[in-house]
Formats: sequence, C-alpha cells, structure tokens
Amino acid sequence: MSKDIIQFPKNFLWGTSTSAYQIEGGITNDWSEWETSSERKKKLQKQGRDLEEYICGKACDSYNRYEEDLNMVASLNCNAYRMGVEWARIEPEEGKFNEAEIEHYKKVLDEAKKKNLKIVLTLWHWTNPVWLANKGGWTNKEVVNYFTRYVSTVIKELGDRVDYWVTLNEPMVHVSNGYLTGEFPPNKRNYFQSRKVLNNLAKAHNKTHKLIHQFYPDSWVSITKLTNDFQPARKWCLLEKGLAKLFHYNWNEKFLRRIKDHLDYIGVDYYFHDRIIRRPPFKKNKNKQVTDMGWEIYPRGIYNTLKYLSKYKKPLIILENGLADAQDDKRSDFIRNHLYYVHRAIQEGVDVQGYFYWSLLDNFEWAEGFWPKFGLYEVDRNTFERKPRESAKIYARICRSGKLEI
Ligand code: FCB
Repeated sequence: MSKDIIQFPKNFLWGTSTSAYQIEGGITNDWSEWETSSERKKKLQKQGRDLEEYICGKACDSYNRYEEDLNMVASLNCNAYRMGVEWARIEPEEGKFNEAEIEHYKKVLDEAKKKNLKIVLTLWHWTNPVWLANKGGWTNKEVVNYFTRYVSTVIKELGDRVDYWVTLNEPMVHVSNGYLTGEFPPNKRNYFQSRKVLNNLAKAHNKTHKLIHQFYPDSWVSITKLTNDFQPARKWCLLEKGLAKLFHYNWNEKFLRRIKDHLDYIGVDYYFHDRIIRRPPFKKNKNKQVTDMGWEIYPRGIYNTLKYLSKYKKPLIILENGLADAQDDKRSDFIRNHLYYVHRAIQEGVDVQGYFYWSLLDNFEWAEGFWPKFGLYEVDRNTFERKPRESAKIYARICRSGKLEI
C-alpha cells in the first residue's frame, strides 16, 4: 500500500502539556489536604489500595528538575510547552504573595525561553489554596476578586514571559467532579452549588481576559475546553439523537456560550467519544480499542470536535490529547491517527494552530493516582529518573519535520 505524506502548516505549534500540581511536588493545597485526610485514606484502604500511590507528595519532583524537563521538551523538537503555575504556591496565605516562589517560576520560564519555546501558561488547573477552600472555594461570592488579585500578580511578575494564556483548565470538570459526582475535592453533590461554581468560573474567566488585555492588548487568552464527541448510537433514533444533543449542549456548549466574547483562541482538550444510548447509563461505546484507563480510542472524534468548535470562528489550539499506555504499544499510532484527523480538519479550512500531547512525562493522575502512564517519558517512582519511551522518538520526528506518513 502506498503511503501518503501529510504536511502541517509552517508555524504550527508542536508541544506537550503538563500542570503544576501533577508534576512539581511539595505543594499544599485543597487536593493535598484531601489526599491525606483520614476519610479518603479509609476509603482507599477498604478498596485494598496502596495509599502511597494516591498521594501526590513529590509528584515528579519537577520543582527541582525543571531544567531536565525542559531539556526533554527540547529533545522532542517541540517549539512550545504548556505548563502551569500553582496558586497555592504564589499566594499561600490570603493576600500574601510569596516572592521566592514567583522567582522560581521566573527561572523556569527563562529557561524555557532559552530553548526558544513558546509558553502556554495555565493559571488554574482545578487546585485551590487551602485558605480559599476553607472559605467555600468557588462557591464563595468573592472568589472572582480573589482570583483576579492572584492573576494581577502573575501578570505583573511573569506576564512578559508568557505567549498564550489559559485562565482555567476544563472548568466543567471542576463543576461536575467537584460538585455533582463528588469524585474530586471538595467532594460535594449539590446542584445549586454547582450552578454557583459554574457562574463564578465563567465570570472569573471573563474578568481575567479583560485584565490580561489591559496589560497586554495583543495577548491570546482562553480556557481549555474539554470537548467530548457525543454521537447517537443509532442515527435514526430520535431519542438517542436528542439525548446526544442535550449532553453536547450541557458539557461542550454551555460554558463556551458564557465566555465566547472573551476568547482570543480556544484551547481544545480531546479525550472522549461518547456513543449515546437511550437507557441509563446512556453511554455504550464499542470500545474496539481502549487505553489503560478503559477510555475508548476514537481518533475521528478529534475531527468532529474541531469541526464543531470552528463555529466560534476563533483559532483552535489542541492543548491536550493523549492516553494512558504503560506498555507504550498504542501511543505512537494514537498520536499519528489523531494528527491525521487534525490535518483533515485543517484541510477543510478549520484554523487549527497547534497540537500539544498530554503529557510530557508520567505524572499524578488526580483521583486515579500514579498508575495511569500518560508520559512520552517514563518516570521511575523511586529515583525520579526520566526515560524516553519509543513513542517519544516518533513524536520527536513529527515535531521536527511537521510531517507524517499515513
Ligand atoms: C485532563 C486534565 C489533565 C489530565 C488529563 C489526562 O482532563 O486536564 O490534567 O489529567 O485529563
């Protein structure tokens, strides 16, 4: 069979993504409090799990090993890197900003600049300082002011080193997992609180967008939008079609509508294809191929997602796409197949300007702990030694040439 070569646009951003809490280590925030709470420990013990695996602790020790991490990004031939700053480090006590931590982030960003990397900086990736959590987190009516006060400091101190801003990572996940299913801190199941949180997150984004633009009028500011590809299991079934639309509206569309006038681009996260059926649990995927976490691998979904988002008429940058694959036997094809569909969307006129693989290295996968292995680099849990997987070589080749053979 003859192979086709597909070529990406010249200034395409090739990157990898990480977040502060999942890699840095040594952070005290609402998540670290929850992980070490007796309630959580008891629950894990009952399930027979190894507690150590579910406490973020030193994470990947990237706080100390950031130079090595950035060298890894450079060896992947990436021209961009998405990283986060941790609110709890920068403002560990209400209204008190920690100079030393700000200096630390300056060093990290300067090191990234030395490597000519474009920086996508995430300001909030689900975690909150303990003082804020104690005041009700994102349900507190003052939270928008607290957030923008923190962001003002980041803009003044670090703003000149940032190329693209992400105000909030996947806000709907905080709304749903934090306030509806209760899987994530603050572990609530309360619809009214979830509405409040959604409103406050949307307001916080809009206000932050304006604030960043006051300092940097040409800046590019977005959130990352986890966008699922909802499709009816049977296209002819009106009920399934209707349900798919409803889920799509609630999960993909609702938040974006609230912030659509405050977006310079859209940060796209794609992981899930949901095949909707008419009976609970309303989802039944074919699962021909799944990741280690049981998530269906469905590359065409990224195309559907990009096509849908193109209606907002903003540039799109894929800021997360990846899989847990400890054996690394699916990752290379996963990347190639998703990129094939990204390219197809570009060819059809969708303005996609970059692709960031999640993640640079194995890290702390939230409530799942350390077992899911998302990294292009594997990390030894005892020594923190990093080693490239085979797929890292494949990704490095793609990033260097901007091409791939299909
Ligand atoms: C996304 C999160 C990211 C990581 C990946 C697997 O939803 O933003 O931190 O956990 O999933």
